[in-house]
Amino acid sequence: MALVEIRDVHKTFGKVEVLKGVSLDVQEGEIVTIIGRSGSGKSTLLRCINALESVDAGEIRVEGLKVHARMPDLKKFRQRVGIVFQAFNLFPHLKVERNITLAPLLTGRIDKAKARALAADVLTRVGLADKIDAWPEQLSGGQQQRVAIARCLAMAPHLMLFDEVTSALDPELVGEVLKVMEAMAKQGMTMILVTHEMGFARNVANRIVFMHQGRVWEQGPPAKLFANPETPELASFIASAK
Ligand SMILES: Nc1ncnc2c1ncn2[C@@H]1O[C@H](COP(=O)(O)OP(=O)(O)OP(=O)(O)O)[C@@H](O)[C@H]1O
Ligand SMILES: [Mg+2]
Repeated sequence: MALVEIRDVHKTFGKVEVLKGVSLDVQEGEIVTIIGRSGSGKSTLLRCINALESVDAGEIRVEGLKVHARMPDLKKFRQRVGIVFQAFNLFPHLKVERNITLAPLLTGRIDKAKARALAADVLTRVGLADKIDAWPEQLSGGQQQRVAIARCLAMAPHLMLFDEVTSALDPELVGEVLKVMEAMAKQGMTMILVTHEMGFARNVANRIVFMHQGRVWEQGPPAKLFANPETPELASFIASAK
């Protein structure tokens, strides 16, 4: 059984059909990168996987569980599926430690006595052990994004979704965030990520999915897809991304 099973998913906003029958399987431990033009439905698909949007037709299953906005154990589900966005969304009035431990404490995943150790552990994994007592505003954009990733890791997710997490960063800060994601990939985390970082997609992903006009247009291993695109749409996308 695939960790994520997406079957013929349709999603419409108003009169616009944004997802036009998307099917996709993601296996445990797989790193899948979604690429495609602006408006092709990449973010919408990620948001559907995390039940931030509900699908109009078709279905999504994660670990066999059917995903929808009114699923009975939505909170538990969201703990297993972490999502990181372009905007870091740290709470500005809370120090780094509290940003990380808030959700695990609220959900009862840990008790107060273990909170600081958990924060220290996940911060170490993103290379920021020394920032546990910092305020978000004292951190660079890249560091804030790494804290946002650490905050997800604190929930011990089974799947991580990343939506253009480096797009808002100054170019010199992109590398440090990609490095953290690469390390997570090596540790076996299942990840679906939307990115414009073609170098990263090529080096880290097991599979690239090219979305076009609300459909999975082409997919395959990075080496094959970049070297031999089968459709003119992908060929022109690759040419314009260079
Ligand atoms: N909540 C919403 N209400 C109405 N329209 C929406 C909503 N969310 C997305 N859309 C529309 O759906 C289409 C696909 O949007 P989506 O954000 O999924 O694209 P994307 O591939 O992530 O693009 P980008 O690369 O610019 O992030 C766009 O035309 C967008 O305007
Ligand atoms: Mg998007």
